[in-house]
Amino acid sequence: MKNLLSMTDLSLEDIYGILDLAEEIKEKRSQGKVIDHLRNKSLGMIFEKSSTRTRVSFEVGMKDLGGHVIYLNPNDLQLGRGETIEDTAKVLSRYLSGIAARVYSHDTLIKLADNATVPVINALSNKEHPCQVLADLMTIKEYKNRLCSMKFVWVGDGNNVCNSVMIACAIVGMEMVVACPKGYEPAEEYVAKAKALGGVIKITNDPLQASENADILYTDVWVSMGNESEAEQRRKDFSGFQINEELIAVSKPDVIVMHCLPAHRGFEISAGAIDGPHSVVFDQAENRLHVQKAVLLKLMILDDSSES
Ligand code: CP
Ligand code: NVA
Repeated sequence: MKNLLSMTDLSLEDIYGILDLAEEIKEKRSQGKVIDHLRNKSLGMIFEKSSTRTRVSFEVGMKDLGGHVIYLNPNDLQLGRGETIEDTAKVLSRYLSGIAARVYSHDTLIKLADNATVPVINALSNKEHPCQVLADLMTIKEYKNRLCSMKFVWVGDGNNVCNSVMIACAIVGMEMVVACPKGYEPAEEYVAKAKALGGVIKITNDPLQASENADILYTDVWVSMGNESEAEQRRKDFSGFQINEELIAVSKPDVIVMHCLPAHRGFEISAGAIDGPHSVVFDQAENRLHVQKAVLLKLMILDDSSES
């Protein structure tokens, strides 16, 4: 594992390795024990889009591990004046121990990774959000004590987070049902990748039927960053694709309700569902911190050992 651009960069063994380490890190943090193996390491963070969780959890995580972070607004970099991604990657690699980037185009990440000599982490792209989905897997494991043999129901947009979830479910052996309006199905590229990994995926336009016997109900915003111009149309098209008490009622009694956040109560999720007893959304948000520390340790320490 040199970079984390996609869930497809991870094997089943990698996923369990990251989750085991994240659980240990979480436990030690709760006991006030310090793990500072990233002393003198630096992470550059390029954010083309807004962020609360990803930015703060990477900053705190890196600092907790003894390292430091440089937040790089692309408009302040020479990138904003036409310097290429390729040259930027080569230059930043001379200073930094790793780069995390949130980008509009996944191709930007690929160019960064192809030209950087330090690990590159996808902090969200138009295609995937692997750091989020690793935190989601950690949360599912905490609540269900397993990752396989469950029914994961995605309600809403077949978007970047959905793509990463499809790959994750395929790798860990979880059945997935995606309930989305016509025209908002996940990209065929990702459905095919997930199926090639052994994924069992059903795509439907009926959220109520999809939710029957669900172990996990998951949703995300109807309007992702970059889709703002379609907001009005999307709000019409997604009407009815909401996780609410009706869907929870047909799911398993111990169903967990998940959302990567930020959430819009009354749109993709009802207030009762997100603030109710089935919701684990703030555990997901917290686990971003622990799981990303595990990713940073794996990438930066592995990177060092391969050089020596
Ligand atoms: N879930 C998530 O990635 O949140 P931010 O956009 O706040 O980073
Ligand atoms: N699908 C959302 C996720 C936000 C964390 C977006 O891309 O905006």
